[in-house]
Amino acid sequence: MKNFEIIGGSPLFGKVQTSGSKNICLAIMAGSLLCKGKTTLTNVPHITDVDNMSKVINSLGVKCEFVSPNTLEIDATEITNVVTEYKYVSKMRASFNVLGPVLARKGHAAVSRPGGCNIGDRPIDLHVLALKKLGARTIESSDKIEMSHNGLVGTIIGFDTVTVGGTQHAITGSCLAKGETQIINAAIEPEVTVLIDFLNKAGADIRRDKQNTIYITGVKELKGVEFRIPFDRIEAGTYVSFAAMTKGDIIVEDIVPYHMSAFLYKMTEIGVGIDVIDDNKLRVKATDRLKAANLSTAVFPGFPTDMQPAYTTLMTTASGVSRITENIFNGRFKFISELQRMGANCDYTTNTAIVTGVRSLTGVEMVAPDLRGGTALICAGLGAKGVTKLHDPNGFIIRGYENLVDKITGIQGKIRTYEDQD
Ligand code: UD1
Repeated sequence: MKNFEIIGGSPLFGKVQTSGSKNICLAIMAGSLLCKGKTTLTNVPHITDVDNMSKVINSLGVKCEFVSPNTLEIDATEITNVVTEYKYVSKMRASFNVLGPVLARKGHAAVSRPGGCNIGDRPIDLHVLALKKLGARTIESSDKIEMSHNGLVGTIIGFDTVTVGGTQHAITGSCLAKGETQIINAAIEPEVTVLIDFLNKAGADIRRDKQNTIYITGVKELKGVEFRIPFDRIEAGTYVSFAAMTKGDIIVEDIVPYHMSAFLYKMTEIGVGIDVIDDNKLRVKATDRLKAANLSTAVFPGFPTDMQPAYTTLMTTASGVSRITENIFNGRFKFISELQRMGANCDYTTNTAIVTGVRSLTGVEMVAPDLRGGTALICAGLGAKGVTKLHDPNGFIIRGYENLVDKITGIQGKIRTYEDQD
C-alpha cells in the first residue's frame, strides 16, 4: 500500500523531465503482437501498468521484458496462447486491446470482459463491432469475448461515438485484413496517430485524411522494429497544474506543444503564464490568483478528459465561479468529495460541477478514487495549507506516473511516501 504525505504551500521551482506516454506505450505493446520478430521500444515509462501489460503479453507465450530501465523488448514471432484471463483484464482495461492483434494473427482469440471501472461506464461494444465488421464471428458469454475468423476482410467501420480504444482496435484488427478498411469518425488522439506511426514503421499501410477517416490497406505481415515512445501529454499537463496550483515557476521538458494545445490554451485563459521554448519545452509561471473559467471536455484536439480533475482542482482556489462539463466519462467527479473535505466549494452531478473558488484549501487525510483523480488530490495538497495524507490502497497513482515523488521533490515540492504501520 502506498500513502503520500504532502506538506503544502510551497511554490514549485526547477525543471522536470516528462516520461514516455503510458497510454501510447500500452497501445503499441498490444500492436506489437502483430509483428513477427523483435520489437524494441525505448523511452518506455517503468510503471505498474506497463509491468501488467508485459504480464499479459507473457501469458500469450510472447517474450516481453525490460532490457534496460526504459527499454522493452517484445518478440511476437510466435503467439502460443490466445486466451487472456480475467486476472489481467481486471487489473487494467487496456489489456483488452490484445484481442484484435491476437485475433488477426491467430484466427481465434478470447479475452475476459473487463469488469467495472472507477471513472464510469466503459462499454466494449464498439471494439467488438469493429472486429465483427471485419468478418470475425463472436461467441459472446457473460464472462468473456471470444472471436474467430477464416480471414478478415477490409470493410467500412463507422463509429457513432469517437472512441480511442475502439479506433485502436479497428486499426490493429485490419492491418493484416484482405483489402482496404475505412474507419469513419475515428479518434485522432496522439494515442491513435502514434500507434499508426509505429505500425507503418513495422510495414503496415495506414493513412488518414482531414475528415478523421483512417484508411488501412491490409498487408501480409508486419515485422518487429525499434520505436521511441513519445512524451506523456497527461503527465506533462499534471506538472503544469502542480506549478499553477502552487504559484510556481517550472520548466517541463521534452514535450510536443501541439499534443497539448487545448490544455495550454486553457491555462493561459485562467492566468497561467505559458511560454514554449525551442518547440519542446514549456516554461510555466503562475504569480497571481487564477481566474475562474468554464470547461467542457472533448475528444482531441479538445480539452482531454484526463486533465479535467486537475483543472477542476485549480478552479477550487481561483477567483470566481466555473462550470466544468465532463463529456467523455460519467464517473469522473469522485475526487470532488475529497476536495470538499479540504474546504473546496463545489457542487456536482454526474457530468457537471460548479466550483466557487475559495481563498485556500486545507490539508486533510484522503483516499485516491482513481488515477487522474488521485494526482488531482496531490495537486490540491501541494497548494493547500498544512499536511495532506493521501492513501492509495489500489496503487492507482503508481500505475501511471513514473518517479512521481522524485520528480516532485526535484522541483522543490514537499512530498514523501510511507507504508501503513499495520
Ligand atoms: C482512453 C484512455 C483514457 C482516456 C480516454 C479518452 C487508455 C488506456 N485510456 O480510454 O485515459 O480518458 O481514452 O481520451 O488509453 N465507448 C463506448 N463503447 C466502446 C468504447 C467506448 O460507448 O466500445 C465510449 C466510452 O464509454 C466513453 C467514450 O466512448 O464515453 C470514449 O471512450 P474511449 O475513447 O474508448 O476511451 P478508452 O479508449 O477506454
